[in-house]
Amino acid sequence: MTALFSQRTVSRRTLLKAMASLPTLSLPTLLQAQTAEMTLSIPDGSPQQLAADESFWRTVGNYYDRTEGIVNLEHGYWGKMARPVQTAYLDATRFVNAQNSFYARKQYGADLRASVASVAEALGAQPDEIVLTRNATEAIHNLLRQYQGLQAGDGILLADVDYPSFKTTVRWLADERQLQAVEVQLPWRASQQEILDRYVQAFEAYPNLKLMLLTHVSNQHGLTLPVAAIAEQAKSRGIDVICDSAQSWGLLDFNINDLNVDWAGFNLHKWLGSPVGVGALYMRRGSLAKIAPYPGEEDPENTRAATRIHTATSNFAAMMVVPEAIAFHQKLGPANKEARLRYLRAAWTAPAEQMPHIEVLGGKDEQSWSGMGAFRLRGQSSAAEVNQLQQRLENEFGIFTVGRFGLADGACIRITPQVFTSLEEVQQLVAALEQLA
Ligand SMILES: Cc1ncc(COP(=O)(O)O)c(C=O)c1O
Repeated sequence: MTALFSQRTVSRRTLLKAMASLPTLSLPTLLQAQTAEMTLSIPDGSPQQLAADESFWRTVGNYYDRTEGIVNLEHGYWGKMARPVQTAYLDATRFVNAQNSFYARKQYGADLRASVASVAEALGAQPDEIVLTRNATEAIHNLLRQYQGLQAGDGILLADVDYPSFKTTVRWLADERQLQAVEVQLPWRASQQEILDRYVQAFEAYPNLKLMLLTHVSNQHGLTLPVAAIAEQAKSRGIDVICDSAQSWGLLDFNINDLNVDWAGFNLHKWLGSPVGVGALYMRRGSLAKIAPYPGEEDPENTRAATRIHTATSNFAAMMVVPEAIAFHQKLGPANKEARLRYLRAAWTAPAEQMPHIEVLGGKDEQSWSGMGAFRLRGQSSAAEVNQLQQRLENEFGIFTVGRFGLADGACIRITPQVFTSLEEVQQLVAALEQLA
C-alpha cells in the first residue's frame, strides 16, 4: 500500500495528479479515499421504519444516474453503480489502461486478493472459499460441469423456477452422461412449506437423485426458496446441492452460513452494484474433492478453490472496485435495502391483489417474497399474451418491464424496483394495472 494514498483526507484531484506522475500505486488505497467521500447518513430506526422514509430514499436515489424517458421497473437484469462506485470504476479504468501490464503483472494480484477478501467478509465466508468470476453463470456452469459424483442412471434435479440457461445445462449434462433429469414444478403461488414439500416429494420419488440445482430467488417471479431447509433434506439423502444465489445477494440480507450449502454462485453486478462483469464462486472448505479442477489444472490436495475457475484476462478495473461497491452496499445497509425493496413490492402487490383482472405470482407468505415480483392478466399466461402486455405497459403507460417465460404455470411480467425507484413510480404501475381492466 503506497503511504501517500492511504491518507483519506487527500483530495481526489491530488490523488489523480499523483496517479498520473507515479508509475505504480495501489488502487484500493485510492478507492478508500473515494469511500470517504460518501456522506450518506442513515437515520435512526428499524429497517422497516426506514423503508417508508421517502425523503431518505430520495437522497439515496440522488447517488445514482437516472434512466431517462421511461419508468424503469426492470432491474433484475443488472444493477446500477452508485456514483462513488462509478467514479472509482472510471478512475480504475483510466489507471489500468495507462499502467497496462506493468500494473497487471506486478500489483493486480494483490488488488484482486483484496477484492476477494471483501466479498468473503461480506458473505461471512473465508477468503480461500471465494473465487471471483466474470458472472454467476461462469461459477454455476463450472460447478455443474466439473461435479464428479455422477454415474449413468443417477438422477439430477432441477425446477421450473430455475434460471433458464442453467436448466438447459442440466438437461445437456443429463444427455451427455446418461442421467435422469427430474424437474420439480412449483405452484405459481407458494408458501415456504409448500415449496419444501414439493422438493421432499421429488427426493422420495427418485431415490437415484445425486445432485440438484437449487435457486435461492427465482429470476421469474422473485420467489424465495427455503434453501437451508431443502438442503438439509437433500443432504440427509446424500444429494449434493449447487445453489444459484445470482438473484439473491443484496436483494435479501443473508450470510453464506444461512444457506447451508457447500457450493454457490453469485454475481455482484445485480444487487451489490459493482460494475458489470463480476461474479463469485463459493466453495466451502473441505468440499473441493467432488468438484474437479478446471480441465488441465491440478489440485492434488483439493485445497485451492481458484483451480476450479479459469477466468483468464478479464475486466481488471471491474474486479478492482469490488471493495468500493461493497462499501456502498454496507453503508446503505443490507437489511435496509431488503426492507425497502419489500416495501416497494408491497406498494404494488397489495392493491393488485384486490384487482379481479390481475394475478400476482410468487410467494404466499412473506418469507417466500422478495422485492422482485410478477403478475399477469388473469387467465392470460401464454408468451404471446405476456409479450403484448409488456408492450402495452411500455407504449401506453411508459413503464418498462420484462416478460418471463420459464414457469410451468405460464408466462408473467416481472416487476423489479431498485433502491433508487421512487414510491411514485411504483404508484404509476398501480394506476396502469387499474386501467388494464
Ligand atoms: C437466478 C439467476 N441465476 C443466474 C443468472 C445469471 O447471472 P449472470 O448473468 O451474472 O451470469 C441470473 C441472471 O439474471 C439469474 O437471475
